[in-house]
Amino acid sequence: MRDLTGDTITEAVISTMRDTKDPRLATIMESLVRHLHSFVREVGLTEEEWARGVDYLTRTGQTCTPTRQEFILLSDVLGVTMLVDALSNRRPAGATENSVLGPFFREDRPQQADASDISGGLPGTPLFFEGRVVDRGGAPVAGAAVDVWHSDGEGHYDVDVPGRVDPAMRALLRTDETGHFAFRSIRPASYPIPGDGPVGEYMAATGRSLMRPAHVHLLIEAPGHQRVTTMLFPSDDPHLDTDPVFGVKESLVASYDSYAADAGPCRGLTDEPYTLLRHTFVLEPRPED
Ligand code: BEZ
Ligand code: FE
Repeated sequence: MRDLTGDTITEAVISTMRDTKDPRLATIMESLVRHLHSFVREVGLTEEEWARGVDYLTRTGQTCTPTRQEFILLSDVLGVTMLVDALSNRRPAGATENSVLGPFFREDRPQQADASDISGGLPGTPLFFEGRVVDRGGAPVAGAAVDVWHSDGEGHYDVDVPGRVDPAMRALLRTDETGHFAFRSIRPASYPIPGDGPVGEYMAATGRSLMRPAHVHLLIEAPGHQRVTTMLFPSDDPHLDTDPVFGVKESLVASYDSYAADAGPCRGLTDEPYTLLRHTFVLEPRPED
């Protein structure tokens, strides 16, 4: 392994890994080296560009804190998160599709009874959510754990609402014997992904929007079924086709119906104009069960 050239170095690096015990690691590392070297050759990477790339990745790591994961955000905006999900969770038409988990899920969310108000008293347009969880054959899935979380009408999650410590706009619910769950909250709004770090630099340099369309996140788990990590977007959101993290799927675009206080299925439950969102979630069986 001497006198290596631009033509011979790729095979030389790969040959150093021939004693790798784990076959999957061997496959991944060989492919990674081949693609990385091909990329360097294809763009003719200069020394200055290499140094900028190293600096960029260094700062991406340095931007990470216990509450901020800039590398996952980078994966999100490069489409890698949704690509891995697409490969890992192929589902037939009709089954509820996944989207990104995002950084705002919290383990310390309160468990709430059916139809609870989970807004934490924050101001906003009342949102009534009525969900149903069924299996592939349309039978109700009782006792499913349903996590919900979303932003307020200004695009802030509870962690970003000034002065707010207690969880709000998030809850752990359970479906009843008919597969139903419901909650009341406030209507979420579109919001920008964090733009003040290395991911923001890349987004600005490439002229991309930081704005995610408004959404309600849901994470649904039930024994014997595949976990669904998803979200529902309002059909009239202007950012549906430019989601920076590629999480929008047609099947997840929902009708957020607006009503006057004295009209519609929830009249009498509020004295303000409100939004009603209804959706049925279809779970796939878990292959190993
Ligand atoms: C979110 O929807 O909460 C989110 C997802 C990916 C990156 C940033 C935010
Ligand atoms: Fe979100």
